[in-house]
Amino acid sequence: MNYLRIVGKGPLAGEITVQGSKNAALPILAGCLVGEGTCLIENCPRIRDVEDTLFILNRLGVRTKRSGTAVSVDASGIENISVCGPQAERIRSSVLFLGALLGRMGEVLIPLPGGCAIGSRPIDLHLEVMEALGARVFVEKERIHACASNLRGCRVRLRVPSVGATENGILAAVCADGETVIENAAREPEVEELCRFLVLRGAKILRTPDGTLHIWGKQPLSSTCFSLQPDRIVAGTYLCAAACCGGQIRIRNLPFREMEVPIEILRTMGLGVDFDGNIRAELPLKGMLQLTTGPYPGFPTDLQPLLLAALCTARGQSEIHETVFDNRFMTARQLRRMGAHIEVRGNRAAITGVAFLHGETVFAPDLRGGAALVCAALGAKGETVLGGYEYIARGYENICRDLKSLGADINLTEGVTDI
Ligand code: UD1
Repeated sequence: MNYLRIVGKGPLAGEITVQGSKNAALPILAGCLVGEGTCLIENCPRIRDVEDTLFILNRLGVRTKRSGTAVSVDASGIENISVCGPQAERIRSSVLFLGALLGRMGEVLIPLPGGCAIGSRPIDLHLEVMEALGARVFVEKERIHACASNLRGCRVRLRVPSVGATENGILAAVCADGETVIENAAREPEVEELCRFLVLRGAKILRTPDGTLHIWGKQPLSSTCFSLQPDRIVAGTYLCAAACCGGQIRIRNLPFREMEVPIEILRTMGLGVDFDGNIRAELPLKGMLQLTTGPYPGFPTDLQPLLLAALCTARGQSEIHETVFDNRFMTARQLRRMGAHIEVRGNRAAITGVAFLHGETVFAPDLRGGAALVCAALGAKGETVLGGYEYIARGYENICRDLKSLGADINLTEGVTDI
């Protein structure tokens, strides 16, 4: 097992550039499959989820080549319809190949996504959209088999604005005959980015002010070059790191507009954040928040564990209500081991700020929970040993490099079986 050793050392100082967005990279890499030609994806983060996606693409007969931060994807030789295997099973986003391959090849096999750490995460909406587009879907023992001789445009209304189901719907609809209308579609910036990418390739997609998406399928799609936006959750991680241990940092490419709600919340706590990415944190920050997570433009569930870590040492009592996933307070147990006062009841957590946390041996429960424990450890007294680095590597290129550039004492120890 790989683990991190983190020594709380007080305020952070320095500048940092945020890597490209994971949640935009994954659907866009799947989006390279719809249509012929080669796409060049720039600012594509070097993280495990992206590397697994590239592996899946290669297995499908797609040629991918990384040079520096750019990845070229040539889908002209695609020959396979099966997205099965260990890489596909361990990344949930392999479900995005459902829409892309159904659209491109008329048939697809994907692994059945199991339950996952942060909640049950069903895919009923993904399947509903594919069926509405005319696909026949068979849920087999460990996989999903879908086929369609010809997808045709349809009108669907999502029960909840699922990010993945919206993206799958878009990817299939660009290959369908006629117009598809997706009501109650997700509005996350990463969905917008997928649309911008496909429009650049020649797709016709329009979002009306009420959020409904209109997609006119079967437009000829061409090669393109597309640069991914900075990852707003990684940017939020470094904002929360400053909120946990104080200091003055600058995030050079802070995606301010896409982060309005979390930035406003952190400002209420007393964190100074300006449009140029200058962040000033004088501790202790003020808690006393009542926060509810929700679909964009609400507070992102992915930043919830990070804010939870910051609230542990903020003055006063706060409450977080998690409404997106049903099991997303696992970080609380680990934070309590570090001295935090957090009481979890169902999907609500009550936090009473303490003066400081102390170093401990803790385990990352999932990707963002792991990052939250890193932030907590940076602000804690003494040394923390954090297991489960593999989760963090799914979404952060090199969290040690980034935080060291802000003066943190954090090191990775690789290949140890026991800690
Ligand atoms: C995406 C993000 C993830 C983020 C989440 C919510 C990627 C790769 N991942 O995940 O980081 O936390 O959005 O912003 O972009 N649901 C159903 N049926 C479905 C699909 C979803 O009931 O078929 C429910 C889920 O259980 C959950 C809610 O809808 O309660 C939102 O999930 P969804 O937006 O689909 O999340 P993902 O696309 O999996």
